[in-house]
Amino acid sequence: MLSFFSRIPSFHPESRLLIIWEALIVLVTLYNCFTIPFRIAFNATIYKNWFLLDNLADLILIIDIFLRFHISYTKEGELIKDKAEISIHYRKTDFKSNLIASLPLDIFVYLFLPQASLILMGLCRIPRLLRFPQCFLIFRKWDNNVYFNSGVVRMFELFIIVFLIDHWVACLWFFIGNLTGQSGESWLQGDNLHLENTTTQYLYSLYWSITTLTTVGYGDITPQNNIELIFTFMVMFLGVSLYAFVIGNVVAVISNLDASKNRFRDKLGQVQAYMWERKIPPSLQKNILDYYQYMWEYNRDVTLDFYFLDELPHSIKTRVYCYLYQELLEKVPIFQDAEPCFIEDLVIKLKPRILPPHDYVIREDQMGHEMYFVKRGQLQAFSEKTGKVYSLLVAGSFFGEIALLYDSRRTASVKTLTYCELFVLYKEDFDKVLNNYPQFSEKVKKIADQRHQVRE
Ligand code: CMP
Repeated sequence: MLSFFSRIPSFHPESRLLIIWEALIVLVTLYNCFTIPFRIAFNATIYKNWFLLDNLADLILIIDIFLRFHISYTKEGELIKDKAEISIHYRKTDFKSNLIASLPLDIFVYLFLPQASLILMGLCRIPRLLRFPQCFLIFRKWDNNVYFNSGVVRMFELFIIVFLIDHWVACLWFFIGNLTGQSGESWLQGDNLHLENTTTQYLYSLYWSITTLTTVGYGDITPQNNIELIFTFMVMFLGVSLYAFVIGNVVAVISNLDASKNRFRDKLGQVQAYMWERKIPPSLQKNILDYYQYMWEYNRDVTLDFYFLDELPHSIKTRVYCYLYQELLEKVPIFQDAEPCFIEDLVIKLKPRILPPHDYVIREDQMGHEMYFVKRGQLQAFSEKTGKVYSLLVAGSFFGEIALLYDSRRTASVKTLTYCELFVLYKEDFDKVLNNYPQFSEKVKKIADQRHQVRE
């Protein structure tokens, strides 16, 4: 067995296998946290094959002790894989408590004292609870793992804490009742309910625990003596703190869940304050707010997306852009049979821009520094001098290429008719693409020449 463990390679602390194993450790620990106090308080077991399940749980915890000698850890940002160092680290940290937690005292009692009560068996298993704090370290690890939803992990953790506290208080309440000679029946005013079986006894205890901890306190189960009264006060105090803890955590999780919405609201708040301070005319304020409304409905927070993309390595960034611009790439006819390297080269150079209706994108006769691709919306190319409309530009169209191709002034004005989502390609990038990909250059020139002819 030992030689088998010595041949095991060291695990990365974030590996998937380890995450599954740690989930199993959490499950086993929660099983112990639930069954041990239950067994001690109610002198009962909730299932027939408890001995088998207990031993299976214990076996998992013992295997875990051996495995821990093979799990790398990070020290000052460096991953330590060396087995000797891992062993020293583990011995210094959780090893002793894990060893005590796995002491098989209950098996000795079972073998040598066959008449022993379930209470005694439960007491022998109390050291298993030493594993409980490690569950929170595992939760923290999941919380920091980018593949886990932090909100879900925190809510799960909160649920576990609240449920276990309710359960432990219920077990203690029944235990104190038994110690002080107040059996379950006398808790109930009127004495007309018979708590003859363990399930009912447990459910009533849990009911008392939850009503007291949540400060609801119906008063149908009341303390009957001084010890129970003192215990009830303590549970009430605990309940108030638990209540505040739960509310605080739920609020934090919910506000984090909708972080992008909150960021957007903050931004909108700043915009509104600015417009109010500068006394911007109401009609202009409406335009600005309509713009943000559109941004939110269709793009969420565009600026933030692009800020994080710039941090990514080139290859990943290109793949993300290809995915994000898929809709545009499918719509623009000149991109459709283009080589993949052209697309990859181009997408990274495109910059998104959102414009409101009736906005000039290009003014006739001005110098041109960029061209545009239309992802969504409608625009009009027309002459401001003659009023002649040349063309309606829709999703998949491009414009502004003539001034770039011929280093000339703009041949027409282009105005948005609706909200438009455009992608801008600046002259220096346009020139590079043109030089590197003659096929693209030919296609653009052909369309530019046709447009020239239409205008003449
Ligand atoms: P540019 O001259 O750089 O700026 C104005 C743009 O309007 C121009 O490039 C073309 O992209 C576009 N344009 C000009 N004439 C037409 C037309 N007849 N049909 C479609 N688009 C045009």
